[in-house]
Amino acid sequence: MTADEQKRATGEAAAALVEDGMVVGLGTGSTAAWFVKALAARKLDIRGVPTSVATAELAASLGMRLTSLDEVSSIDLTVDGADEIGPGLSLIKGGGAALLREKLVWEASRRCVCIADAGKVVRTLGAFALPIEVVAFAHKTTALRISDALADCDIGVRPRLRLKDGAPVATDGGNLIYDAACGAIPDPARLAEALKGVTGVVDHGLFLDLADEALIGRETGVERLV
Ligand code: 5RP
Repeated sequence: MTADEQKRATGEAAAALVEDGMVVGLGTGSTAAWFVKALAARKLDIRGVPTSVATAELAASLGMRLTSLDEVSSIDLTVDGADEIGPGLSLIKGGGAALLREKLVWEASRRCVCIADAGKVVRTLGAFALPIEVVAFAHKTTALRISDALADCDIGVRPRLRLKDGAPVATDGGNLIYDAACGAIPDPARLAEALKGVTGVVDHGLFLDLADEALIGRETGVERLV
């Protein structure tokens, strides 16, 4: 299977986990889009909580009933992609700039299933540059503080402002994204705590102790990791 076929297979496998009546968190990205399409095709009586404007638009275009986190007490199941899957189902997310809404939805979910192609599985997190969402006000100052936090965690890199067509990428919430090309993150929990301690950082793409399981697309089929 190609990477895209693997993504599709995991999205379809995850859609099979959804039951009538559920409130379902809808992830963001190309893998999550396969899930949303497969789920919509099942025509279940469910409500979806999208993690981005893009996912909301896709789900609505497929006729899915949507709600928001503030309208439901909790979410039964969230399915979302990842940029890296490391030991213990530690994740890097945020390649699609949706990490804040994704984390809010994941944290409100009883069960979180990560779906990804095999190329996302790594021994050590950090080859994928870690997305960090910051408020726009004084973001350059915040970036300096982020460099200090990274250095405190033995990571000597400067985060780079994410640009698209020469302009800063704005998240759905109007914030900016910095990417830190760490190379390797020796202690993800320590780094997560250090980044959350920086004023101006809204959140970061380390998703630790959040995924309950992962469905990984392999050449031979879909493998379940718990
Ligand atoms: C968006 C994300 C995505 O889930 C992540 O970037 C994976 O995307 P894709 O499925 O397109 O590879 O975290 O913020």
